[in-house]
Amino acid sequence: MSQAEEHQGTRRDFIYYATAGAGAVVTGAAVWPLVNQMNPSADVQALASIRVDVSGVTPGSQLTVLWQGKPVFIRARTQDEIDAARAVDIADLPDQGAENRNLTGEADASDENRALSEDGVWLVQMGVCTHLGCVPLGEQGDFGGWYCPCHGSHYDTAGRIRKGPAPRNLEVPVAAFVDETTIKLG
Ligand code: FES
Repeated sequence: MSQAEEHQGTRRDFIYYATAGAGAVVTGAAVWPLVNQMNPSADVQALASIRVDVSGVTPGSQLTVLWQGKPVFIRARTQDEIDAARAVDIADLPDQGAENRNLTGEADASDENRALSEDGVWLVQMGVCTHLGCVPLGEQGDFGGWYCPCHGSHYDTAGRIRKGPAPRNLEVPVAAFVDETTIKLG
């Protein structure tokens, strides 16, 4: 085989695997770190709901997935983070609403109304600052939650705004566990 033919073969293989990979995403194996999704296809952006395998997310770590073109933070919180969030007096919060799309009515911003699981471990929220839409950084800021460096907004370990120009808590999207290790968004 000439060098040119070998090269062709390699290229064909590459295209085959790339196509197989794209198919896997479209059919719903939608679990990927944000870093691999800088250019999501229109198909992926349009998906109304996705299922996310969270079996690899351990307490103190966060998975960021892209859903409908926006980052979603899925965090397994440590007991310290849960305790800190639950010790806060709601009267001290700039935004006292739950901002949780899974709840109807006037639910308050208690940690219980923000967390996805009853034990408080799982917190799922849009990774979009409610000021002007930057992506906040995790485990940073004055309250140990998220910090938006664009204009200095500090969110606590329940994703509630505590200081800075952002007007609202990070939005909790429609989300639910469909089995022990899978969260469905949307
Ligand atoms: Fe986050 Fe302005 S966009 S503080």
